[in-house]
Amino acid sequence: MSELRNDRFLRALLRQPVDRTPVWMMRQAGRYLPEYRATRAEAGSFLDLCKNAELACEVTLQPLRRYPMDAAILFSDILTVPDALGLGLYFEEGEGPRFRKTVRSEQDLAGLASIRAEDDLGYVMNAVSTIRRALGGSVPLIGFSGSPWTLATYMVEGGSSKDFAHTKRMAYDQPQLMHDLLSLLADAVTDYLAAQVRAGAQALQIFDTWGGALSAAGYREFSLRYMRRIIEGLPREADGREVPVIVFTKGGGQWLEAIADSGADAVGIDWTTDIAAARARVGERVALQGNMDPAMLYASPARIREEVATILEGFGHGDGHVFNLGHGITPGVDPDHVTAFVDAVQEFSPQYHRPA
Ligand code: CP3
Repeated sequence: MSELRNDRFLRALLRQPVDRTPVWMMRQAGRYLPEYRATRAEAGSFLDLCKNAELACEVTLQPLRRYPMDAAILFSDILTVPDALGLGLYFEEGEGPRFRKTVRSEQDLAGLASIRAEDDLGYVMNAVSTIRRALGGSVPLIGFSGSPWTLATYMVEGGSSKDFAHTKRMAYDQPQLMHDLLSLLADAVTDYLAAQVRAGAQALQIFDTWGGALSAAGYREFSLRYMRRIIEGLPREADGREVPVIVFTKGGGQWLEAIADSGADAVGIDWTTDIAAARARVGERVALQGNMDPAMLYASPARIREEVATILEGFGHGDGHVFNLGHGITPGVDPDHVTAFVDAVQEFSPQYHRPA
């Protein structure tokens, strides 16, 4: 494997000194880019795009050709795991993801396939190794998975949901069944992420998109506990370098201390959390990733630059900050506004890293 030429993302995740704050964006490859829409049309569908290593590699690299991002993220989806478990994922135009089967009983749970990521999600591993080769050591590659709780919400509901009625009823009325599902998912996710590392992923992010929908006690019991178990089971090193793990719980701002104790190297925070307060709360335990409101990208380039400056000032001097949005970029954003965002981080952040 070739030498990594830009490692400031990996260094920042481990709170090591950097010359400036590294930046990437959740959902950086996607529908806001016309070249993404063209490649998706060529592939046929979103799932065909995920399953074609060359095209998945192409869309992973598209944002890096436009913007000097400090990391690439594997182009795939968190719902590939439930799909491999046998639920039958499909996307209905304008309606988001759907599953042909749901998991609502012991029988449904027993009917899930037992999987080995290297075989049953081999197309993801092909994409990872293809992308890693194409990056040629320019920037590190992030692998990812959904958290067990977040995956469970889609599996129990059969798709996206506003109130998680079936999932929460199961958690509250049949906690043992929910724990059996979450245990199975924690094992599958550990295997899936470890396989991504063997295929070439250099950092990992666990997307806990719906952890914030739980109560404080529910979060510890149904989400955090299983993410901790995954982190404990992961390989800590590849190619002689540490493989940092980022936990991103949307809406997890109230539970930062607990998340910082999960074993993760870095905690992703959404835009509802004050980054200065967050840093004071987690101290030296973890790095922080975030946290500009993705909707700020609809504002003018001047306003975007001002917000980047405010967030950098909020985190303050020193290391351990990875700049990002507080959640994924949305499809309606003007790609030129992303230029303003990334340029502002590059321009304003070096002053926070100069030796005092
Ligand atoms: O960050 C990246 O650029 C990597 C690619 C990525 C995608 N999905 C591509 C995608 C990642 C990391 C995800 C994660 C994901 N997928 C999450 C967790 C992160 C988050 O945003 O909270 C969730 C909840 C999903 C499930 C999912 N996939 C939904 C709800 C949808 C439909 C929503 C939408 O935006 O249409 C998807 C589809 C999806 N995943 C698209 C992309 C680019 C859009 C597909 C298309 O129409 O081209």
